[in-house]
Amino acid sequence: METTLKVSKIKDGTVIDHVPAGKALRVVSILKIENNPDVSTTIAMRVQSEKLGRKDVIKIENKYLNRDDLDRISLVAPDATISIVSNYQIKEKFTVKLTKTIVGILKCPNQGCITNVKEPVNSEFSVVSEKPLILRCFYCERNMTEKEVLSQL
Ligand code: CTP
Ligand code: ZN
Repeated sequence: METTLKVSKIKDGTVIDHVPAGKALRVVSILKIENNPDVSTTIAMRVQSEKLGRKDVIKIENKYLNRDDLDRISLVAPDATISIVSNYQIKEKFTVKLTKTIVGILKCPNQGCITNVKEPVNSEFSVVSEKPLILRCFYCERNMTEKEVLSQL
């Protein structure tokens, strides 16, 4: 019996694998590819995975991710594997990393926080917990929940 996943390989582009089950659409929305008429995307949701039970996979043709894309993805899918494919071969493969501090990406929910009041102060959060995601503002110590983080991405 054929038990392997049948999703076509791509010729050139980026594969985001080991995304938590059900989070693929959030990743797609972070990358703003859903309305790009030049980008072909294949999304597999809740497929069987040896490591994760179920996972999502996203294959994006002819697109490569920048540091900001990867940092945002790490907030939603901290264990995602990124494969860069060129002429059907994997040229590079790495995992996104949720960095200890998250600088500039998110806005502190505290309106009185110095990062909101005095502009060019970059927001900065430290990771209090990864699962569930809880971040703490470096300046006002306000905690930010996963839900608040997701609503900003
Ligand atoms: N992939 C692809 N097109 C290619 C090559 C690879 O879409 N031309 C995809 C594979 O389907 C897989 C991911 O890129 O989702 C990583 O490929 P590979 O390392 O070969 O897969 P696995 O060994 O199964 O990866 P892992 O052990 O990380 O699950
Ligand atoms: Zn703050």
